[in-house]
Amino acid sequence: MWTKETLKELISDKLKDNLFIVASNREPYIHKFKADKITCFRPASGVVTALDPILQTCNGIWVAHGSGDADRKVVDFKNRVRVPCNDPNPKYTLRRIWINKAEEIGYYYGFSNEALWPLCHIVYAKPKFRESDWNHYKQINQRFADAILEEADGKDAFIFLQDYHLTLVPKMIKQVNPKAKIALFWHIPWPNPEVFRICPWKKEIIEGLLAADLLGFHIHYHVDNFLETVNHTLEAKVDKAGSSVVYQGIETSVRPYPISIDYDSIEKEAASKEVQNDIKKVKEELGITSEIVGIGTDRIDYTKGITEKFKAIDHFLETYPEYQGKFVFIQIGSLSRIHLDTYKKLNDEINGLVERINWKYSSDNWSPIIFIRKYFTPTQLLAIYRMADICLISSLHDGMNLVAKEFVAAASEKKGMLVLSQFTGAARELTEAITFNPFKPEDCASAIKSALSLPAKERKEKMQKMKAVIKENNIYRWSTKIINALLRLS
Ligand code: G6P
Repeated sequence: MWTKETLKELISDKLKDNLFIVASNREPYIHKFKADKITCFRPASGVVTALDPILQTCNGIWVAHGSGDADRKVVDFKNRVRVPCNDPNPKYTLRRIWINKAEEIGYYYGFSNEALWPLCHIVYAKPKFRESDWNHYKQINQRFADAILEEADGKDAFIFLQDYHLTLVPKMIKQVNPKAKIALFWHIPWPNPEVFRICPWKKEIIEGLLAADLLGFHIHYHVDNFLETVNHTLEAKVDKAGSSVVYQGIETSVRPYPISIDYDSIEKEAASKEVQNDIKKVKEELGITSEIVGIGTDRIDYTKGITEKFKAIDHFLETYPEYQGKFVFIQIGSLSRIHLDTYKKLNDEINGLVERINWKYSSDNWSPIIFIRKYFTPTQLLAIYRMADICLISSLHDGMNLVAKEFVAAASEKKGMLVLSQFTGAARELTEAITFNPFKPEDCASAIKSALSLPAKERKEKMQKMKAVIKENNIYRWSTKIINALLRLS
């Protein structure tokens, strides 16, 4: 089994004096002013969910963009703060880097989220490529590289970069320190070469990535797509059987590592008294009296298929009217990238749709959809998972989707079934889930019906199998495999 302890041992045995530095755009803890007080919270991000337990185990350094309005108030003169922030015994160091508005518009909103994000998610949103965004992207990647090099301070370091925001950083680091050991994990899908070839800066991006010693993707399919893309873009030696690329004398291993969660701690906490108490409180607060509860929790993003999900619920209630008055769907939505028009419009569209569906079906004391944008604490979220008969995940395209795994870990043996879009990375591992095509509302509606009609014994067996898969392939296994691979390579 892979646990916190085995990871700790690996780190103290093998990494020894090496520093362990993680870098991502999104920071794991954000400080914000709330009614003149500084509060601290964890953002909705798969990257944060997966990496925070690892950093807590190995006392590393996490370099990230300081995006909270109170972030500068709590750092020391080196822009560092110890986290988790509400922990009396903080476990690791967060090093913040600062980005001004114009840079944020170009690097984060522009190139990362209006170009690379739609380019890699096949949901038919056209990427926008602007030269000025690209220039900001290069500039901020350089800032990340400089901060990482400063933190490493010439010592041996394992540098573990995250995601599409930082594609140029491996090359920038290697130019200064060719001995640095670098892995980069790509948390979103990698498209096929036909799709990727429209990117005007594809060569620079691939060259940036190929300076890493190890590149990780969630699934084989993305590894294959990446290798094919390299073949189409550069004069490089691509070894498909060995899953590696040699470019300008540097060899990069390219491997699938399906990301996961801290299964044991979620399972344990979900069964705790606090969560049990929160179930009652949350039910009261949300006014839930229906017998059957469905839940969903997503960042409000067009790739998550939230409007498709609501249309499917409409179809479900129309096709199976016996559920009217009995079934309620709680959707939690975290606001995201709200300065982009596409996201603003999506928000408005969701509001309109919820209103229309609720108007169509509601009676005096029942409406089918409860849509909440409020922040829930991790304990409250577990309570919501725990009260659910189904968890419905309708992503149109998703690298992994950790909500699926969290739900399975948190659900009790007696209740709960996962209804999962077939276009998530998670669907490849959680084969016992009820899967559907989110582009077809009828398909999703009948998946909901099948999940709710499963005989208790079959439901329990399916959930047990999925629990076993995640327990085995947990986040400690993911990180141990990546660290071991990096050790072997170096
Ligand atoms: C996806 C990306 C992460 C990102 C998260 C939240 O999961 O892979 O890198 O942090 O979305 O998006 P945001 O733009 O709010 O960080």
